[in-house]
Amino acid sequence: MTRRKKIYEGKAKILYEGPEPGTLIQYFKDDATAFNAEKHAVIEGKGVLNNRISEFVMSSLNLIGVPTHFIRRLNMREQLIREVEIIPLEVVVRNIAAGSLSKRLGIPEGEALPRSIVEFYYKNDALGDPMVAEEHITAFNWASTQEIDDIMALALRINDYLSGLFAGVGIRLVDFKLEFGRLYEGEMVRTVLADEISPDSCRLWDAATNNKLDKDRFRQDLGGVSEAYAEVATRLGIFRDPKSAFAEGGAA
Ligand code: TMP
Repeated sequence: MTRRKKIYEGKAKILYEGPEPGTLIQYFKDDATAFNAEKHAVIEGKGVLNNRISEFVMSSLNLIGVPTHFIRRLNMREQLIREVEIIPLEVVVRNIAAGSLSKRLGIPEGEALPRSIVEFYYKNDALGDPMVAEEHITAFNWASTQEIDDIMALALRINDYLSGLFAGVGIRLVDFKLEFGRLYEGEMVRTVLADEISPDSCRLWDAATNNKLDKDRFRQDLGGVSEAYAEVATRLGIFRDPKSAFAEGGAA
């Protein structure tokens, strides 16, 4: 193994220093956590699948002009990304009621929302990522008003694009979580999409059966977690057949 410098280790990913200044390597682990890491398991193959799915989604977004940190995939578990300063917010976009929204507001899971809803959570594990309002974000200087405007516009654009992308392969995009970063380019600072977009960070339901194809399978002990992720990758055309999704190194 190479002895690269580890910059940061999260619950499902590790960041290493990149080959050039301003770049990092993002490594996808097989670890899964839920409920602020109270629940933990290793799901064989998950990292490989999330690396591929996130590559696919981020490159598609780059193509339509959504700026992201993604540069290119390096191997089965790693991708080269631009180093950004992470804005300490988890930005959740919801189309259909589920999860904490259903719980908090008593809206039955599966009910279509009157319009897409964007929520902000303060990214802080010790506090359990509490939900916050724009007032908190600007008062505590986590992001500027301009950055919040940029984030809202990008989040809704990403939602429209991804809803269509998944609908095209028979999947409902119920909700998802985004993270953004500041990309410093000389005098300029740009708000770009960072982190990952994968079944770890989205709720994806089969359009015909409402079968869950995401991390809720782990959160709710439904089993078949990596099989569901492989199904998403196969439908997106990343793999020719689900079996090749598990052949480390062998996937096309
Ligand atoms: P929630 O319904 O639990 O608030 O989750 C909303 C969406 O955000 C769902 O697609 C899962 C995703 N999510 C994360 O990616 N990380 C998290 O820590 C949490 C709580 C949710």
